[in-house]
Amino acid sequence: MKNLISFIQFFIFNVLGALIAKYQCDCSLFVEETICLGIDTCNWVNEVCINKDCSEIDENECDLIGKCSLNSNGICEATGFCTEYQVKDQIDCMIKKGNCAAENKTNAAGFYQCKSYISVDCNSLAAENCTNNYEDGQTFCWLNSTKQCQSYNINSCEGLPLDVCDKLDCKKSNGQCSTFLCSDITSQDKCTYVKDGYWGSLTLCQWKEDQIPKCIDRIETKDYTNETCSKMTDGRYYWNNESCISCPKNFEDNSSSQLNLILYLIYILQEL
Ligand SMILES: *[C@@H]1O[C@H](CO)[C@@H](O)[C@H](O)[C@H]1NC(C)=O
Ligand SMILES: *[C@@H]1O[C@H](CO)[C@@H](O)[C@H](O)[C@H]1NC(C)=O
Ligand SMILES: *[C@@H]1O[C@H](CO)[C@@H](O)[C@H](O)[C@H]1NC(C)=O
Ligand SMILES: *[C@@H]1O[C@H](CO)[C@@H](O)[C@H](O)[C@H]1NC(C)=O
Ligand SMILES: *[C@@H]1O[C@H](CO)[C@@H](O)[C@H](O)[C@H]1NC(C)=O
Ligand SMILES: *[C@@H]1O[C@H](CO)[C@@H](O)[C@H](O)[C@H]1NC(C)=O
Repeated sequence: MKNLISFIQFFIFNVLGALIAKYQCDCSLFVEETICLGIDTCNWVNEVCINKDCSEIDENECDLIGKCSLNSNGICEATGFCTEYQVKDQIDCMIKKGNCAAENKTNAAGFYQCKSYISVDCNSLAAENCTNNYEDGQTFCWLNSTKQCQSYNINSCEGLPLDVCDKLDCKKSNGQCSTFLCSDITSQDKCTYVKDGYWGSLTLCQWKEDQIPKCIDRIETKDYTNETCSKMTDGRYYWNNESCISCPKNFEDNSSSQLNLILYLIYILQEL
């Protein structure tokens, strides 16, 4: 009974209490130059904050920004040219190169060639043909624990196969893949937020000075200032009318072309 009650408390706190942000702000919501320049994907031009072009993005960040990919000349460009990319790790065609499929053998130089994906039905694929395929821009095929081909959502860590778990920046522990929690963070300076994989929703954290200090889920944004609001929330909150509020769902989310589905990955986050 006690267990049940604490489970329910935990559940209510986590589902209703914690601050979970799904959407990245459009850069235009950052109205101060220093705030704007503090966000990796934004640039301050002619007194307004605008979304950076891929070509302006640092090569170390390029591949993890859903709409951009580093090409073989080391230049960050808009994603969309799967056949131009070669990767060391097969799954990087999917994670870093914006939903490209991958050849299943390395080429002479020891790289996997990426290729455009043809939509498949994961459940109907044989095990040997399963991995590095897609149903759509959000759903990929991978072998499950019984070595059968199953579909998985790219925006959620929960239940991912263990061999892709840490590659999507998820937590692998006790033989399960799940999202990192605030309570997994043990130092005060890292206690800012956790994300459900690279592209999933973001949960804000807060350091609690207790007998045993710890990192817990944050339940309010009152102690953020105009200077810390967006910075501490990876650009998913912005300062508006003297308070720190979450970003609205981006207007680009209503289109359905393949390229937009790829752009989707960075801006639009899956419903819980
Ligand atoms: C690679 O793919 C081909 C055809 O798609 C398939 O016949 C072969 O078994 C696959 N090999 C591996 C190692 O997955
Ligand atoms: C795997 O894919 C290849 C190429 O599409 C096909 O020839 C082969 O029959 C598939 N393997 C199985 C077991 O279905
Ligand atoms: C693995 O995938 C198959 C086909 O999608 C499914 O029927 C089976 O239940 C899955 N196994 C597990 C352990 O989830
Ligand atoms: C934050 O607000 C203070 C006080 O209103 C102001 O002086 C400061 O310039 C603001 N900082 C930024 C980065 O907007
Ligand atoms: C700003 O917030 C104050 C107090 O919460 C509220 O009264 C006011 O209407 C808000 N102004 C705008 C423009 O939203
Ligand atoms: C998407 O929304 C924008 C702004 O709300 C609108 O201008 C555009 O026409 C919509 N696109 C589609 C495909 O519905």
